[in-house]
Amino acid sequence: MSTVLFEPFRIKVVEPIRISSKEERFEWMKQAGFNVFNLTAEQVMIDLLTDSGTSAMSHDQWAALQSGDESYAGSKSFLELEEVAKDIFQKDIIIPVHQGRAAEHLLFSVLVSEGDMIPSNGHFDTTGANIEDNGGEPINLPLEAASKISVSHPFKGNMDIEKLRVFLTDNGSKVPFVMLTISNNTGGGQPVSLENIEAVHAVCQEFSKELVIDACRFAENAHFIKKREKGYEELSTKEIAQKVLSLASIITFSGKKDALVNIGGLLCLNNEELAEKLKNRLIVTEGFATYGGLAGRDLAAMAQGLREVLDERYLDYRLRTIEWSVERLYERKVPVMIPAGGHAFYLDSKSFFPHIPPEHFPGIALVAELYMRAGVRAVELGNVAFGKRDSLGNNIFPPLDLVRFAFPRRVYTQAHIEYVADSITELYEERESVQGYAFEHEAPVMRHFRSTFRPLGSM
Ligand code: F0G
Repeated sequence: MSTVLFEPFRIKVVEPIRISSKEERFEWMKQAGFNVFNLTAEQVMIDLLTDSGTSAMSHDQWAALQSGDESYAGSKSFLELEEVAKDIFQKDIIIPVHQGRAAEHLLFSVLVSEGDMIPSNGHFDTTGANIEDNGGEPINLPLEAASKISVSHPFKGNMDIEKLRVFLTDNGSKVPFVMLTISNNTGGGQPVSLENIEAVHAVCQEFSKELVIDACRFAENAHFIKKREKGYEELSTKEIAQKVLSLASIITFSGKKDALVNIGGLLCLNNEELAEKLKNRLIVTEGFATYGGLAGRDLAAMAQGLREVLDERYLDYRLRTIEWSVERLYERKVPVMIPAGGHAFYLDSKSFFPHIPPEHFPGIALVAELYMRAGVRAVELGNVAFGKRDSLGNNIFPPLDLVRFAFPRRVYTQAHIEYVADSITELYEERESVQGYAFEHEAPVMRHFRSTFRPLGSM
């Protein structure tokens, strides 16, 4: 069998990549305060900052844009989207929103009150932030294995069922609902098994709690189940996705991932009374219930993207892309998280640069150096992004200091990916020459977005 990645599409429209020199990139990085968020897109050659809203749309999606119905109420594009979404998400009521966090904001503003606690296998940062915004506390109950980058587990994104049971026994009265994020982005893009989702559902029934699924990457997660979980080989990925999603009472969804669009999201549920409240709030914050902050053409593109994303050839290629990158890095002894996740691979900065102490941010060094050497943009999700300070100003670091390389869907070719793997390997081979970074300006929250840095030592 050829190990070549067969991209199941051909390229009809191209966007040139500006090939820059190391000298140019060093100058741009200085101007950007050594934070890749401050670079312009044109200064980046391969952009793996996020897989969100960065997909290439198909020709059928572009055609759908042309037929978008821009009516304020009762848009035909909404009705089309509603039909596709009801079928996949297995819910009767579909509420459009402009992106995933808008669904979170809307739902939590109705369901979360001061002092509530929301357990999950791993809340994404906006999910946690929206819970906190409504006075609640996000609680993560991942598997032990999730915090060990070199421990392989087919469903490392699972929730720890025992911990959930204990948590609900102790705090049940403060828990309005339980959440599951599929796949588990915070835990390395790792999938959640159907067995685990069924077990979480059963515990929710036992404690009379609703199950809310954050289904951003539902198609990738369902395909992992087909590939890795016994008993599901014969079902189609779509059937698996429907089985998974039918277990949720409510679904939040960012279309910017598995609807293959650049903007859009959904909130899906069966409870009519709750839906009435949500739709009334929706008018205040997003818009009428048949457009939810989106243009009719965006709804049409999302409907078509949902029709395409469950194509198993596409999903084979998608998962194999990340797996292929991880194999390359693993065989070259680069400290990469195993097994491969669905939308990204993650490097362990601490093991990549063991000579850089945590307070000199090895993850920032990795991201900055890789950009300057190769023009590849990744994101630090470690000591800067998730680190905090105690009341004395001392650093509190998260358990894992990671750098994420997230792949836009249908955008880069195998040659691009090989270039990324080779560039990382070269940097790893020269790791001893790299020094750490210090804050020039430290942003008060979500520090990776707005802080600036200065390289330590000679440059
Ligand atoms: N839930 C998960 C699991 C996510 O990964 C994201 C976004 C959201 C919710 C929010 O959706 O961006 O449409 O508002 N993740 C992006 C990322 C930003 O880079 O991982 P959104």
